[in-house]
Amino acid sequence: MTDTPSGIQEHSFSNASARRLNALLAAFHSPTRYLEVGVETGQTFFEVSAEFKTAVDPKFLFDRETVPNGESIELFEITSDSFFCDVKRDFKYDIVFLDGLHTWDQTYRDFCNALLLTHERSIILLDDIFPTDVFSCNRDQLEAVMMRQFMTNDPSPAWHGDTYKVIPLIRTFHPLLSYCTIITDGNPQALVWRSPQSAIASPILKDIGELNMPSLDYLWFLRHQQSFNLMNEQEALALVINSLQLG
Ligand SMILES: C[S@@+](CC[C@H](N)C(=O)[O-])C[C@H]1O[C@@H](n2cnc3c(N)ncnc32)[C@H](O)[C@@H]1O
Repeated sequence: MTDTPSGIQEHSFSNASARRLNALLAAFHSPTRYLEVGVETGQTFFEVSAEFKTAVDPKFLFDRETVPNGESIELFEITSDSFFCDVKRDFKYDIVFLDGLHTWDQTYRDFCNALLLTHERSIILLDDIFPTDVFSCNRDQLEAVMMRQFMTNDPSPAWHGDTYKVIPLIRTFHPLLSYCTIITDGNPQALVWRSPQSAIASPILKDIGELNMPSLDYLWFLRHQQSFNLMNEQEALALVINSLQLG
């Protein structure tokens, strides 16, 4: 268990993502379609219960031969850019989990592309939008871990990159989307869905100024973390389910 910058306790539940995704999927009445970008060992992917699942990762860390690539599961061992550009879809996903490369530009591109593959009541879950310390938001994973070890003797492998910058982008450029950030019961993650943002969301626009992305550094994050709409897991799931009139 570690403390986030805001003092929120972070439990190391390995399956918090699957638990949240399954709670949301259960709220859909029809057969569900799920897309996960960044799958690694499949720890979350194989725990998610959806009728149809798509996995995208340039390097799967599981034996593909043991997974039947059939009617209910598709595996694409390619980058997210290749998937979104080259793979044709004639349907929309109900839930998309974005957990690929932890940089704001790649995640924002994945997010925009995922929007095109979702429908009015779809939900996007974003991982790594809440760095745990100044080292974790380094865009370079190796440097993040080495600098932490060197400066603090802390061997933690925590790395979130600057993915958190996607939240001010959503707030600024996607006023027809709402978001909230789960900060209890596991690693912080943001939920995004189609619903106009409340008027209260607008002040961050002033802070973005001329959209100088490098200026959105860790100090900026610490000052603006409340604008991530922080809430506990239960509140967040209920908010999305009620807002989309699922369940
Ligand atoms: C944190 S892991 C994903 C963990 C997984 N979602 C889970 O919950 O078990 C991040 C993954 O993103 C993958 N990745 C890195 N760059 C990517 C890209 N451009 N497109 C898709 N996946 C990428 C890495 O190979 C790695 O397996």
